[in-house]
Amino acid sequence: MLDKAQEVKQTALQEINLAKTFQELESFRIKFLARKGLIADLFDRMRELPSDQLPAVGKSLNELRSFVQALYEDKKNQLESAQKPKKEYLDLTLPGRERWVGSKHPITQTLDEIKRIFFGMGFGIATGPEIEDDYHNFEALNFPPDHPARDMQDTFFVTDNILLRTHTSPVQIRVMEQRQPPVQVIVPGRVYRNEAISARSYCLFHQVEGLYVDRGVTFSELKGTLVSFTKQFYGSDIKYRFRPSFFPFTEPSAEMDITCFLCKGSGCRVCKYAGWLEILGCGMVDPNVFKFVGYDTEAYSGYAFGMGIERIAMLRYGIDDIRILFENDVRFLKQF
Ligand code: DAH
Repeated sequence: MLDKAQEVKQTALQEINLAKTFQELESFRIKFLARKGLIADLFDRMRELPSDQLPAVGKSLNELRSFVQALYEDKKNQLESAQKPKKEYLDLTLPGRERWVGSKHPITQTLDEIKRIFFGMGFGIATGPEIEDDYHNFEALNFPPDHPARDMQDTFFVTDNILLRTHTSPVQIRVMEQRQPPVQVIVPGRVYRNEAISARSYCLFHQVEGLYVDRGVTFSELKGTLVSFTKQFYGSDIKYRFRPSFFPFTEPSAEMDITCFLCKGSGCRVCKYAGWLEILGCGMVDPNVFKFVGYDTEAYSGYAFGMGIERIAMLRYGIDDIRILFENDVRFLKQF
């Protein structure tokens, strides 16, 4: 019996070295240590022994079981630690992780520059709601009900009377309702139009409105202000022209063009071979508008202007699809 025990011990010593996987180790456990395994079998066979041999055999079988159990545990620990990742260590040769530095959206950059220039000419800032009523967006700006001029701006209506503002001009009305002249503000903000979305137009864009009202304000002051802005913003070598136009809230009205800053007027894809780019609308505030806000039309006169920011930013940065300005794709934004 003791020989048999010695034999099992030798086999176990050999076989434990052959166990390279958890599965093989489990077979080892079943073969030697399970309830029907080799060692249990030896314990069973103690029944056949004379009782005087029992203490010695029992002792050596117990030792055998502890020994094989220890072989099993050691191997199990070995396999487990081989599975775990090696101890953590620092690789100081790895390149550093790139930090993402944010940048201002091209629209914000363009707006900041426009604001800076007008602040320098004494303008303040005013803002107003994006959800407007018909009165401020149209009526008080001298768009009569059913007047075709309303069709110039496709409107998102919330109710019959409430809409998403189609331009920043309603803030003119809100400012004049609250203040007496002199008033000298620019109004940056978002506007909405129910237009088919394309590379050139989007349902949402930004405008900057300007308004100056005081005693004796003239059209030449309007021109002087806009020319000064244009030269600061686009460069002093830029040429400009004012064309007569129509807006319900200004009389007379004009649009300002500048020579295309890409081709300098000789004609290119950006200016559609015209050599000129339209950059804003403007005019002298119509006395009818003053009547709506209760200004004395004999005492005061004023000018107003409005420009679209996306168009300016697109021309400036050479962006040919307006939609990309609203997608917030970092691969695009990172370039600014
Ligand atoms: N509100 C006009 C538009 O969205 C732009 C505009 C033109 C504003 C002339 C003005 C102005 O203040 O005088 O098309």
